Amino acid sequence: MFLLKGARMLIACWSVKGGAGTTVVAAALAVLLARAAPHGVLLVDLGGDAAALFGHDPPAQGVTDWLGAGPAVSPDSLRALEMALGAGVQLLGPGSVSPEAASLAATPSQPIHKSASAEGNRCRCRDGDLSRLVEVLEADTRPIVVDMGPIYNSFGSCEAVHKAATKSILVIRPCYLAVRRAVSGIRRPSAVVVIDEPGRALRIDDIEEVLGVPVCARLDLDPAVARGVDSGLFGSRLPRSLERGLRHVA
Ligand SMILES: Nc1ncnc2c1ncn2[C@@H]1O[C@H](COP(=O)(O)OP(=O)(O)OP(=O)(O)O)[C@@H](O)[C@H]1O
Ligand SMILES: [Mg+2]
Repeated sequence: MFLLKGARMLIACWSVKGGAGTTVVAAALAVLLARAAPHGVLLVDLGGDAAALFGHDPPAQGVTDWLGAGPAVSPDSLRALEMALGAGVQLLGPGSVSPEAASLAATPSQPIHKSASAEGNRCRCRDGDLSRLVEVLEADTRPIVVDMGPIYNSFGSCEAVHKAATKSILVIRPCYLAVRRAVSGIRRPSAVVVIDEPGRALRIDDIEEVLGVPVCARLDLDPAVARGVDSGLFGSRLPRSLERGLRHVA
């Protein structure tokens, strides 16, 4: 992977159905890009799970709080909300982690955080407000990866981020229902990453043909990835299948 000097890079990752693998792909791309980025990579997490992949608690404050402070808030104060995840990746989280959120030790590898909301820690800002965030991100010289999470309809569609993205990546499983949603959805990706699952009827060619967008990577369903997620080890040991599959994507 190489970075063009001075070229702005904003990669948006999203899905049309929950649990596709969007956070895994976004986090892996951030780690891979950081290897060639002298000032590191910014991972903007609007979905709320990214910190956990690196073994961290989500930062209490983030995008929701910064936008909530109103238009007068300085761009510099956004930087102050970043958290170092390791491997050259800085995280800007969704923020506004509820005070009731409690943690309880569940496994020796990772504590589990209970969220008070059914949406988890997803960014709770309005779409229109995100354009203020995008203005700041566009002035950032670091490569940026945004995990937008699932996008079902115009509410929470992250339109400003999608428009500013140099690459807009749909992460999808070869699932007929997901592909149907992608075809009729409001967002058109510029590229698709398929997390392949054994036994599916749909093939990569079918997905490319129906969506009319190239599949830039096919990732295996790999137990090492699932284990890496569960142990929060993305900062120290990126699973090989992700490295191989995503090396040429960014
Ligand atoms: N390549 C892979 N191999 C094996 N398991 C994977 C792979 N990619 C993702 N997973 C597993 O799939 C589950 C969902 O992954 P992830 O959280 O990245 O999806 P998501 O699209 O971000 O979900 P959400 O819609 O909740 O944000 C996790 O348990 C993760 O470990
Ligand atoms: Mg996610």
